[in-house]
Amino acid sequence: MQLFARKPISAMLPEGEGALRRTLGAGDLVMLSIGAVIGAGIFASLGTAAAGELAPDGSVVRYGAGPALVFSFLLLGGVCGLAALCYAELASMIPTAGSAYGYSYATLGELLAWIIGWALILEYAVGNVAVAIAWSGYFTSLLGGFGLHIPDWLTHGYWQVAKSGDPAVHGLLASAPRLLGIPVLVNIPAFLIVAGITWILCLGARESTTVNNWMVGVKLAVLAVFVVVGSMHIDTANYTPFAPNGWRGIHQGAAIVFFAYIGFDAISTAAEETRNPQRNLPLGIMAGLGVCTLIYIVVGIVATGIVPYAQLKSADPLARALTLAGLDTASMIVSAGALVSMSAVLLVFQYGQPRIFYAMARDGLLPRWAAKVHPTYKVPHVTTIVTGVFVAFGALVSDDAATYDLTNIGTLAAFMLVCVGVLVLRVREPDRPRPFKVPFIWLVATGGFAACLYVMTGLPYSAWVLFGVWMTIGLVCYASYGYHHSVLRTGRPVDAPPLEGGH
Ligand code: ALA
Repeated sequence: MQLFARKPISAMLPEGEGALRRTLGAGDLVMLSIGAVIGAGIFASLGTAAAGELAPDGSVVRYGAGPALVFSFLLLGGVCGLAALCYAELASMIPTAGSAYGYSYATLGELLAWIIGWALILEYAVGNVAVAIAWSGYFTSLLGGFGLHIPDWLTHGYWQVAKSGDPAVHGLLASAPRLLGIPVLVNIPAFLIVAGITWILCLGARESTTVNNWMVGVKLAVLAVFVVVGSMHIDTANYTPFAPNGWRGIHQGAAIVFFAYIGFDAISTAAEETRNPQRNLPLGIMAGLGVCTLIYIVVGIVATGIVPYAQLKSADPLARALTLAGLDTASMIVSAGALVSMSAVLLVFQYGQPRIFYAMARDGLLPRWAAKVHPTYKVPHVTTIVTGVFVAFGALVSDDAATYDLTNIGTLAAFMLVCVGVLVLRVREPDRPRPFKVPFIWLVATGGFAACLYVMTGLPYSAWVLFGVWMTIGLVCYASYGYHHSVLRTGRPVDAPPLEGGH
């Protein structure tokens, strides 16, 4: 039963009452959601969701939704809404660093907390590999607009090429230069953007409300350009067939474009700073989800209207759709805006991951060097650099579709455990004060759990295999290290200096 030892919630609350001021209203939460959420999902994974994916031998890896992608977005809006409500309740009760990892330590015990923490690496670090690859796609496309061309072998990672069903991309395997007989295929722009972001974070940068508002402005502006200019070039013939692969395509499309919704959980961490959380948290989260879902639906309708949906299968589908319609200037504007939007997402996630590692190390589940804080910059610099190296090298060689899948499956698993956690705590500690309480909790939590599982089943077999391997490695690490060093069970505290911002 020691595996299920729970960290008391009282041990997780920040020292001193009201460590952070409650200043955020529902509108601020909506801005925060848009800032964290809109990125590679809509700018890049939309292409694969609409068009589907083929293996190099021509077999189907996943079916695309076609123009019926709008139904995928609607489905996901509902699924994320349920999970987000559960997040909001836990976040308002347990406002602490580490997000779902922290909540599950208090509700489900150490082993499941470790599993969630391990799954969150998929959401944050592997997610950023996917965002970096998408960033590179738009960067290359923007340079192309200026007549500059980087050789393809320097903008495509090995696995992206090896797994591609597009003969033009797969052909790079034969044409790339070779080193010791191995084709050299590396995504240099993806590597460099991650290296740059890591460097900025090591200097102590963090997102401010002003920067966030500015980023939100850019995101909304470029998507507006896409929608307004694109809608003048819609050919309604492209909407037939509307759902070429029926519900199977909508479901499998949803499983990959779920990436576009990731980030809501990040805003639940603002619970502690929210005014009147009972009202504003659900309102802010739901309005944020509603706004993003609406934007995604409109962008989806326009994208699948400009070109036949099959042509959206590319690293930069929105820019490509405009280019194919002869709208080169608009395409370049969208590419530039996409780069800014995705840089913001990279920053948020690259900021979050080291802090989750820090929280785990402080609990003794990771080695103590992971809890080191830089004396001058006051950032967890060791984990920031470790994350940067992991993500940068991942982005150098990985395949975008596979990284979306792995991110999504890990995030959905974490969402499911959060839905369980909220129920467990209702049963175990019914009287604990809840600044925000989910209405119809049994319906919402069990519905959220089932809905996330359903979306997961739309992912290809390869994603489940990778997820299984990842989780097995995680359990081996726990058994060989965390289990023996846990502060909660051994009583030996880790000497971890506090981070700025009450962590
Ligand atoms: N939702 C984020 C994005 O689409 C992760 O980039």
